Amino acid sequence: LPVSLIGVPTDIGAGARGASMGPEALRVAGLQAVLESHGLQVIDRGNLGGPSNPWQPPVDGYRHLPEVVAWNTALHDAVHTELARGRLPIVLGGDHCLGMGSISAVARHCRETGKQLRVLWLDAHADFNTAELTPSGNIHGMPVACLCGHGPAELTGIGGHTPAITPDVVRQIGIRSVDPGEKRFVHEVGLEVFDMRYIDEMGMRHTMEQALMGMDENTHLHVSFDVDFLDPEIAPGVGTTVPGGPTYREAQLCMEMIADTGRLASLDVMELNPALDVRNRTAELAVDLIESLFGKSTLMRKK
Ligand code: ARG
Ligand code: MN
Ligand code: MN
Ligand code: MN
Repeated sequence: LPVSLIGVPTDIGAGARGASMGPEALRVAGLQAVLESHGLQVIDRGNLGGPSNPWQPPVDGYRHLPEVVAWNTALHDAVHTELARGRLPIVLGGDHCLGMGSISAVARHCRETGKQLRVLWLDAHADFNTAELTPSGNIHGMPVACLCGHGPAELTGIGGHTPAITPDVVRQIGIRSVDPGEKRFVHEVGLEVFDMRYIDEMGMRHTMEQALMGMDENTHLHVSFDVDFLDPEIAPGVGTTVPGGPTYREAQLCMEMIADTGRLASLDVMELNPALDVRNRTAELAVDLIESLFGKSTLMRKK
């Protein structure tokens, strides 16, 4: 599929400023050229626009709700347009609240085309908070819950259908930080979570085999890659680091096994924060991993 890059320069849902610079850092790290070197056709659609960050405290459990709605509505429209054109959107975040706009559009596209959706959520966090459960009010901790219909109507209805998705389409990988109320809620809805303990005990290969199980030719595979998924030793440039994440090799294998399915049809790259990075190395690592996600391999692969 031809690829469209969509920059979304905002940190409106985050607890630290700086993810708004993520799209440009990924461009500077050479994302477009790397994808083109693998024979992909790539168009950079530039950046979306939206409200600036007013840096206000939460209101009724949500920080910056109107601004989050504005950014996600714009992103929903942009992602849906690219999918309708038969293209593969790569969303360059921006903080992870943007998963709502992106995945609501993907879910809508799947309803319109009769595709089966699978969402891989690569993250240190479950992002399954609600206004009642959140310790911070930061909406980047809520997108999965909102997509599953738990949140304010302005957010749960962005894709025109509430809920946008059901928990059974989601597989979370790399999770190691879940707030107490959030933990109960994740359990209650039966979200499938492959946490770091699971990866430690079973290995990344088995984990990915489980997470990718049950897909077929009719599956639209969406990957929502929160860069804080990675161990902070190799990926310091994020606002919410949690120690004990996947190593470089584990992350590579994860991406390579996704590539091997041949089903990847949309991607988010979220939470990259250049203000906290070291000479853009986290952006460069993200680009390296995206290269594997699009099929880079050391040797010729047997089919
Ligand atoms: N669970 C915490 C919160 O709700 C952190 C969320 C971090 N999310 C993220 N997309 N980095 O505030
Ligand atoms: Mn996240
Ligand atoms: Mn995270
Ligand atoms: Mn690579």
